[in-house]
Amino acid sequence: MAIFDASCRAKALGRDFNRVLILILAAALLSMLLWGCSSDDTGPESESPACDSVGFCGCSAEAVEILISDLLAEMTLSEKIEQMHGIGFVPVDGLWHTGENERLGIPGFRMVDGPRGVGILAGTATAFPVGMARGATWDRELEKRIGEAMGKEVRGKGGSVLLAPTINILSHPRWGRAQETYGEDPHHLGKMGVSFIQGVQQHVIASAKHFALNNIENTRYWVNVVADERTLREIYLPHFRMAVQEGHVGSVMSAYNKVDGHYCSGNSELLGRILKDDWGFEGFVESDWFVGTWSTVGSALAGLDIEMPAPVFYGNRLAGAVGTGEVPVETIDGAVRRILRVKYCFDLDTDPPEPNPEEVATEEHAALALEAARKAIVLLKNDGILPLDREAIDSVVVVGELADTPNHGDQGSSRVAPPYVVTPLQGILDRAGEAAVEYVVGNPLSEEDRTRIATADAAVVVVGLTAEEEGEGILPGRGDRVSLRLPAAHEELIASVAGLNERTIVVLEGGSAIVLENWLPLVEAILMAWYPGQEGGNAVADILFGEVNPSGRLPSTWPRAESDLPPFINDRAEVEYGYYHGYLHVDREGIEPRYPFGYGLSYTTFEYSNLMLSDRSMSPDATLGVTAEVRNTGAVAGEEVVQLYVSCEDSRVDRPLRTLEGFERIHLRPDETVRVHFDLAAENLAYYDTGAGEWEVEPIGYRVHVGASSRNLPLAATFAVRPD
Ligand code: BGC
Repeated sequence: MAIFDASCRAKALGRDFNRVLILILAAALLSMLLWGCSSDDTGPESESPACDSVGFCGCSAEAVEILISDLLAEMTLSEKIEQMHGIGFVPVDGLWHTGENERLGIPGFRMVDGPRGVGILAGTATAFPVGMARGATWDRELEKRIGEAMGKEVRGKGGSVLLAPTINILSHPRWGRAQETYGEDPHHLGKMGVSFIQGVQQHVIASAKHFALNNIENTRYWVNVVADERTLREIYLPHFRMAVQEGHVGSVMSAYNKVDGHYCSGNSELLGRILKDDWGFEGFVESDWFVGTWSTVGSALAGLDIEMPAPVFYGNRLAGAVGTGEVPVETIDGAVRRILRVKYCFDLDTDPPEPNPEEVATEEHAALALEAARKAIVLLKNDGILPLDREAIDSVVVVGELADTPNHGDQGSSRVAPPYVVTPLQGILDRAGEAAVEYVVGNPLSEEDRTRIATADAAVVVVGLTAEEEGEGILPGRGDRVSLRLPAAHEELIASVAGLNERTIVVLEGGSAIVLENWLPLVEAILMAWYPGQEGGNAVADILFGEVNPSGRLPSTWPRAESDLPPFINDRAEVEYGYYHGYLHVDREGIEPRYPFGYGLSYTTFEYSNLMLSDRSMSPDATLGVTAEVRNTGAVAGEEVVQLYVSCEDSRVDRPLRTLEGFERIHLRPDETVRVHFDLAAENLAYYDTGAGEWEVEPIGYRVHVGASSRNLPLAATFAVRPD
């Protein structure tokens, strides 16, 4: 692939262009090979940033722009417009195609869904844990490997664009697609999204979606979302900016909804001013599917480059609008340039993806799905019953329909068809050793069931949500959860089992926070397994029996009651998003959450000490080094997610109590101490000055906090940002 291709192969040399152009390209290639390409370059130009780390085109950028200019000069208007839309409402071989051009040898895109694996339309593929589960790993390096694996599988299906990651903020856990994103915090969400994009783009193009403010399903096709500019810039957009500027994402999908009265696909403020002008996005924007585009002139002028999946407003209508002068040819050329840039920078001409079943659903990817599920599961409560000691127990009863159901997530566009799914029951059967495992569906409990539950040494109840309770709002009026509680029958089942067996453990499945208050005191332990993918059951059993020490941490706040969060109204045609949600909201209101953002238990304990700052003050363009020591004070090895938050001491504007600004996942043997390092850039402490229309790093005092969750921050120190 060209993106980080150190050989800096200039594009299009094999093409039939005039000799002058070939000579220019050859000269450029030669000079790049000699001077400008590899990151360990020692040539005379090595002072400037290595070209292979610039944007998604790296060293090919200049040659690609020359090639595009040449192509644009040759293309007719209708050839250009063919580039700007999908080719039909029905996918071809499981992939959504966009226009190709045989005459000029321009390839089309082949798009396919994510984000928990290659979408079902393309056939069998590895089902990884859903995005929210992977958010709970807080493991950027792992997320990059998952992106790489998914990118490889897309390529193995013959695809060139993965319609993922979903990086809409979890502003409320009742959002139907909560499971697809990584969590409620912009920094955490952005970093996880960037890692995924970097992995995917080793093989194919990623598409960050849905831009923007797509946080409700039931009315997603028409809801008008309003947010003030600081809320937009500081809460709902930073992760998209990171996807563009750090992840160098090749494509962005516009959302269905309206923002400030304009559909996102025709929203010049979002697509033009913010995404392309302010952030310098160089890739293309495609609309969301079927009813994601609503106008011809408005969308083209706003910056929608591709209408998917078929030409309704583009195609002939767009040609007509160019004819009447409503859409200037320059606008068309600008869009086509972006589309071609991505095609040629990602080598779709010379190295097109070819279907290769050997790259899909491999053993290696199954092992990765298992690793992710193990790291994602969050131990919420443990009164000492876990891990189950196989030597000490003779029998385990597993209860609940979900224990024996392949429940790996929504059945909308993110649906995946894995080769198999290990259910919790299967995982427990395989890993219980000598202990006898009985299974009770429990719907309802018979007398015989009751006896089996009462006589077992431990009861594991598997309950939670399914695509019935939460998912994509493909059909209007569906998708968002109606409550944060479990279905009533599941709550009743937990109470009944706990009434029969004192040693009851609950395994939860679902895409985001669940209110547990009705039954929490009745049980000994609770694990949140999310939708853990095709290997989920093995991971659950590994944690129950102590093969693996739980290390997942909540990427969102779990409230005691739904009223502890800002309201979520399912069928709103208009909604205003405020600045405060999740931990920002409960911290501000002084509300005690059931489990705070960043929380999760382990089978060992950690001690924090020795917080050190590289300086007591810094300039607004500097970076502060922050280090802290963490020691494993328990008897078993474990992984900890060390979190860094910052609060402002005396800001002139309204600020949250503290915000996450860094996290590191570390592994510690018993008694081992690790010094964790964070780089804290002053620019990340800026607020958006709406009057000036720019980011402002205030020269004030700040306090840095380090610890294990947003509410468990034993270390703190202050520093100041000096006036510029
Ligand atoms: C979803 C997108 C998805 C697209 C294509 C839409 O309904 O909102 O996330 O990528 O369908 O399947």
